[in-house]
Amino acid sequence: MKSIKDTAISGKKVLIRVDFNVPMDEHQNITDDTRIRAVLPTLKYALDHNAVLIIASHLGRPKGNVVPKFSLAPVAKRLARLLEENVIMATNCVGPDVKKIVSNMNTGDVLLLENLRFHPEEQKNDDGFAEELAKLCDVYINDAFAVSHRSNASLVAITKYAPLSVAGFLLQKELDYFKKAIADPKRPLVAIIGGSKVSSKLEALENMLKHVDKFIIGGAMANTFLKSTGCDVGKSKFEKDLIDVAGSIIKKATENGIKFYLPVDAKVASQFNSKAEVKTVPIQEIPSEWMALDIGPATSLLYSEVLQDAKTIIWNGPMGVFEIDAFSRGTIDMVGTVAESYAMTIVGGGDTDVAVHKAGKSDMITYISTGGGAFLTLLEGKSLPAVVALNNAEGE
Ligand code: 3PG
Repeated sequence: MKSIKDTAISGKKVLIRVDFNVPMDEHQNITDDTRIRAVLPTLKYALDHNAVLIIASHLGRPKGNVVPKFSLAPVAKRLARLLEENVIMATNCVGPDVKKIVSNMNTGDVLLLENLRFHPEEQKNDDGFAEELAKLCDVYINDAFAVSHRSNASLVAITKYAPLSVAGFLLQKELDYFKKAIADPKRPLVAIIGGSKVSSKLEALENMLKHVDKFIIGGAMANTFLKSTGCDVGKSKFEKDLIDVAGSIIKKATENGIKFYLPVDAKVASQFNSKAEVKTVPIQEIPSEWMALDIGPATSLLYSEVLQDAKTIIWNGPMGVFEIDAFSRGTIDMVGTVAESYAMTIVGGGDTDVAVHKAGKSDMITYISTGGGAFLTLLEGKSLPAVVALNNAEGE
């Protein structure tokens, strides 16, 4: 895979595919601009090297229609502020108007194309659409790690038509950290896996059995594992059809000498809401009408001991329903433990990054991935289609 650093971009038109799929409130105010900040090194490098910048992204899931609330216009404003440069906002991403703007652009100009997903061809990986995009540029740069698990035209097909296709700094950094953590880790390597469903992490769990020394399980998915050990979890959420699968994962882990840790106590509530009555109970004593919504303090202590000797930690998924204050303690305590650890710590996917930011400890984590689905795809041991396309791309 060629890097932006391996190619001369001075005076050239570069089309930089980024992931500006940022969260917004109902008034289209950006509530977290991490993904915009994450690509600034690539954008600044291109500006410093006198390129003409054409930036392309998707936002949300408009399903091939022009949906005003998914316009990238608010992103253009934030980007202009962060880059301290004027950013021209296009009203489309292809077509005669865009071509005209691009043909009049000079070195140092920055253009943000409108949402790629306003065209159904984007998610169909359509060749014609990809070719139209590619015609705008001399060099195509993929710096959109977070969407690189999607076979979309601006990520995959475009590499067939762009004169040269290279990786940006963020994409490289994400892949490098992941490789360090999984392919060649300092051991013990501990995976902390949380979130609500075993089903959404099944492939990741199976794949990680080949790599990790210890598993720590939290979130509602722990209930399915607990069920498989014969524990009664009351009215807690669990996946009935995956109880046997969960049991077989524990069995495989044990056979491979992998330590497998489940909660020993839980914060339980009589109902699923912030006003419900809450108490802490040993895991064997969840009342039949109550539900576990967070790990308890004994589990937090146990997990912090398990992490004491870790040299590498990968964390995906919260320990409980951390959006509700009463059930956020387990996740926040875990952020503290991971942040204080001497291990290389990598956090990604499933809102884990949100929890780290909420706890105000993002500076103390070695690397926070910008990817949700893309990070999970790597955990599953699969390659990212956009990265495969970059690797296969021909060019000088
Ligand atoms: C993400 O936020 O995970 C990426 O931008 C991909 O978005 P998608 O799941 O809508 O393809």
